[in-house]
Amino acid sequence: MAKAIVIEKYGSSEVLKYKNLDMGRPGEDELLIRNTAIGVNYHDVYVRSGLYKTLKLPGIPGCEAAGVVEKIGIAISDFKVGDRVVYITSEYGAYSSHIKIKREKVIKLPKTIGDELIATNFLRAMTVEMLLNRITVIDDTKTILVTAAAGGVGRLLCQWASSLGVKVIGSVSNLKKVAETKVNGCHETLVANQHDFSKKINQFTEGKGVDVVFDSVGADTFNSSLESLAPCGFLVNFGQSSGAVDPLLMTTLAQKSLSVARPILFHYFKSYKIYEQMAASVFDAFETGVLNVSKFSPFNLKDATEAHNMLESRKGGGSIYLKP
Ligand SMILES: NC(=O)c1ccc[n+]([C@@H]2O[C@H](COP(=O)([O-])OP(=O)(O)OC[C@H]3O[C@@H](n4cnc5c(N)ncnc54)[C@H](OP(=O)(O)O)[C@@H]3O)[C@@H](O)[C@H]2O)c1
Repeated sequence: MAKAIVIEKYGSSEVLKYKNLDMGRPGEDELLIRNTAIGVNYHDVYVRSGLYKTLKLPGIPGCEAAGVVEKIGIAISDFKVGDRVVYITSEYGAYSSHIKIKREKVIKLPKTIGDELIATNFLRAMTVEMLLNRITVIDDTKTILVTAAAGGVGRLLCQWASSLGVKVIGSVSNLKKVAETKVNGCHETLVANQHDFSKKINQFTEGKGVDVVFDSVGADTFNSSLESLAPCGFLVNFGQSSGAVDPLLMTTLAQKSLSVARPILFHYFKSYKIYEQMAASVFDAFETGVLNVSKFSPFNLKDATEAHNMLESRKGGGSIYLKP
């Protein structure tokens, strides 16, 4: 019998309930996939808590997983039973032993990429691909600031950016995380709330400020991110781990001719061709060692509550996955 984690009402991690699931047959343009490793993301926490009301209740959360094709809709000719695949879906349903999913959301996995690696990091690495290639120009002339540089997305972003020759300054919440950021390619690391934060940014950039800030922390860091920018700098706010950012006045941007973007990965999958190109670039980054993740924290699917508790305690981002 297929199993799934179902949310019937928004709330704490306790609302994640393990239930039986009726699968039925895939539609003509759908694949039936047996999930082997399911990614756990901060997005899932926002969906569960009700901050995002994007999952119709009762519903199955989860945006990404690796798995194996078990059944194929009659209109599909380019997948076969037994293909190893990975997918990202904005329609949710990944916290399950099996999923019926539109073919256009599914990518075949190269042999070199393991299930636990890609389930924990596909969505995060695709986010980094979007941030570095599709929003503003990032090249070896640039200095960037990455908040939460030891977090799941943060560490991949630092690794990939430093491989391009970009000068990377990371910020973290406490001193214990500084050593991790060095491993991830940060040239300098700061503690986010240290009293001389802007003085240090000035020192590291010879008084100019940084060209681009990638800020996933939101409320707690947004103002210091704006202050860290050089004139004509670019603030990319792509997350809100500490809470939503207050409304921003255009006159604040005008003070230094700044630009701000608030990108969401799902909007960048404009066609299957682009989705495939981004995935190929991510697979290549893992295969060539540009991206490197070696620690994994598996939980049984039925223990999704514990997995969310671990993620929310600010440990394990980019390593946590569920095993059906
Ligand atoms: N826009 C998009 O399409 C997109 C795609 C993927 C992810 N995201 C967002 O990016 C953010 C980071 O995702 P992730 O996968 O890297 O998460 P993660 O692995 O859990 O890392 C989040 C990091 O944020 C820092 N943080 C600072 N204040 C925090 C707080 N109050 N609560 C929790 N963490 C806090 C923590 O690092 P320190 O302890 O060092 O501060 C933590 O390690 C999330 O908000 C996520 O929703 C957005």
